[in-house]
Amino acid sequence: MLSIIRKLLKRSSFASKINISCKKIVHTVFPPDSLEYARLCFDIYEQYPPHVLYTFPEKHKIFKDALKAYSAVSVEDEASGLHTDPNRVLNFFQLIMAANKLPEGDYIELGSHRGFSSRVINRFMDSSQTLYLLDTFEGFDERDINIEKTKHDTQWTAGSFAPTTVDRVGLYVGDGSFPNNLKIIKGWFPESFKGLENISWRFVHIDFDLYDPIKSALRTLWGPLLPGGVMLIHDYGSYGFPGARKAVDEFCEEIGLLPIELSDRWSSAVIRKPLRDFSLKM
Ligand SMILES: C[S@@+](CC[C@H](N)C(=O)[O-])C[C@H]1O[C@@H](n2cnc3c(N)ncnc32)[C@H](O)[C@@H]1O
Repeated sequence: MLSIIRKLLKRSSFASKINISCKKIVHTVFPPDSLEYARLCFDIYEQYPPHVLYTFPEKHKIFKDALKAYSAVSVEDEASGLHTDPNRVLNFFQLIMAANKLPEGDYIELGSHRGFSSRVINRFMDSSQTLYLLDTFEGFDERDINIEKTKHDTQWTAGSFAPTTVDRVGLYVGDGSFPNNLKIIKGWFPESFKGLENISWRFVHIDFDLYDPIKSALRTLWGPLLPGGVMLIHDYGSYGFPGARKAVDEFCEEIGLLPIELSDRWSSAVIRKPLRDFSLKM
């Protein structure tokens, strides 16, 4: 019933004028990074209807469910507004769909915090493979913050990103039951990576925020990333975490590839491993 009323309203030019005026008011009154803006403008179908979702109706359902799950947190409960970023969900969707086509390999997220992005990855990934989540679950580590301070001024301190727990994240990712294909490892990276060195990865999401753990994650995971594997690094354009861009750019210089910047709210960089040596043989 509601959707019929919506459709009728959409066809009415009067309703559409009112809708546009309301949006203009919201845009004028609230800055784009305010919580009010996020709350009032969070509708990807209004903002930016992605045609791929209509072209492939079977994909649409998976996307719609994941978007709903991602945004099912009140802005009051997560003040960053992190979960009100539909473009980020679309990025995950396209990149993980590409990674799902690769030969056997697992998925890993470095920096999960409360599991908002982990939940989306878990929904989009090939469920016959394993998703690993690595985090201190106690926020930033003093060692990383000390290195960050040598690179630029920062307000962040050890322990920033309030503590959460392995159980809480596991239950959240699985909508109330801990998924069978989920392994959560609590500890400081790179130490927490011990024992995972021989795994091949299809998809790597790095969301550690800080320069040193991001750089060390890139260096550690690049080797075991499958040919065609996808690395996504969050905060590439974030003014709060300039170390993320620095780490990615330096790493890309080392391996001789260029990152592509994606337009989610804080920007993410994507690097895809070539299938083979790509230098032209004439
Ligand atoms: C921005 S939060 C991750 C947010 C999450 N990916 C999401 O989108 O919902 C960053 C996380 O990285 C973790 N972290 C940062 N440096 C780390 C390190 N060296 N080892 C383990 N965890 C680390 C922090 O504890 C924090 O939970």
